[in-house]
Amino acid sequence: MHSDLILENAKVITFDENETVHEKAYIYISDGIISEISNKKINISGAQKIDAKGQLLTPGLIDCHTHIVYAGNRANEFAMRLKGASYAEIAQQGGGIVSTVKATRKASVGELTSSAKLRAQTMLDHGTTTVEIKSGYGLNLETEVKMLRVAKSLGKILPISVVPTFLGVHAVPKEYKNNADGYVDYIITEVLPVIANENLATSVDAFCENIAFNVQQIEKLFLAAKKLKFNIKLHAEQLTDQKGAVLAARLGAKSVDHLEYLNPTDCSVLAQNNTVAVLLPGAFYFLKETQLPPIQDLKDNNVPIAIATDSNPGSSPFLSLPLMMNMACVYFGLSIMESFKGVTINAARALDLNKQIGSIELGKKADLVLWSTDNINDIVYNPTFNYCDSIIKNGIVIT
Ligand code: NIG
Ligand code: FE
Repeated sequence: MHSDLILENAKVITFDENETVHEKAYIYISDGIISEISNKKINISGAQKIDAKGQLLTPGLIDCHTHIVYAGNRANEFAMRLKGASYAEIAQQGGGIVSTVKATRKASVGELTSSAKLRAQTMLDHGTTTVEIKSGYGLNLETEVKMLRVAKSLGKILPISVVPTFLGVHAVPKEYKNNADGYVDYIITEVLPVIANENLATSVDAFCENIAFNVQQIEKLFLAAKKLKFNIKLHAEQLTDQKGAVLAARLGAKSVDHLEYLNPTDCSVLAQNNTVAVLLPGAFYFLKETQLPPIQDLKDNNVPIAIATDSNPGSSPFLSLPLMMNMACVYFGLSIMESFKGVTINAARALDLNKQIGSIELGKKADLVLWSTDNINDIVYNPTFNYCDSIIKNGIVIT
């Protein structure tokens, strides 16, 4: 047997179908792929060996919903919200998404790349080996394309996989004031085909909300996106129940995200369509939301639950998935194992990458995290201590 890297004596939580735990395992990696998992040592010469000394090994974490490419700073909005202004009110006053759009349109590729690189590096430091990154702060062809190019380039300059998502239908730009229909038509006819031709994104996302786009506009966008073979996903039911999640799931969405205002009776539609519920506890916390997503109904319907940072300048500036796991447990009542599944195998499902990543199984990519503890509870219990010890990306030890 050939192997380039062997992780010896690790406590392994696989997050495979049976949630297998190996108290003492040897993981063999060849050409960036997991080629053998054994409870006994197999002698192979020439391979790099790492003694895990009984510490915990898990799949690399997957952040399946982020907006980390942007310019500007919205800390002032946080201060306004502390004085009582709501997220929707700030958006109506010209703050919110539109203010980030202004700054992002002005920023150079170099500026956008260097700020986003710092964010992605921080994510990596906390165990994230795959990150989905959305556009959505350009709202015109030029800047949406610029954002997606920057997002994709991060995967070349850092040992992190980037999954780019086109979120042109995020807010109505000033050029289309009071004409959301016209803006959606512009995106469908002028922007989407370019994103497809230049292979700049694998999915199309949108924001369905009373302060953003309605279900008719979303349906039109998604039908066009599906024709061009994009996966679809949706920001749905974050502030009000618009029935966006049901529409998206029926059209085959891989995930619907946020969901605080999802009607419990709609959970079955997600289940029937294998749509993942992506919960974003950072935004729930940061916006001081009190309406909880229908967690128990999602579980009763066996809807896979993923957790992500939603990292963005307005509603969740956070970069650490262990912090999100902690919030998902404290606010949403998930167990520690459920929160971990939410950032591994279920996050992989949300990105349609569960055949390649998200669990420690033969044939999957060797994207792994070795933690400086043998107790999984530690990682979620105290996210301000970084338990991330070593990261293995594509079978290469990077820290
Ligand atoms: O996921 N909900 C819409 N979009 C983002 C917020 C973006 C922003 O405020 O800049 C979200 O929360
Ligand atoms: Fe978001």
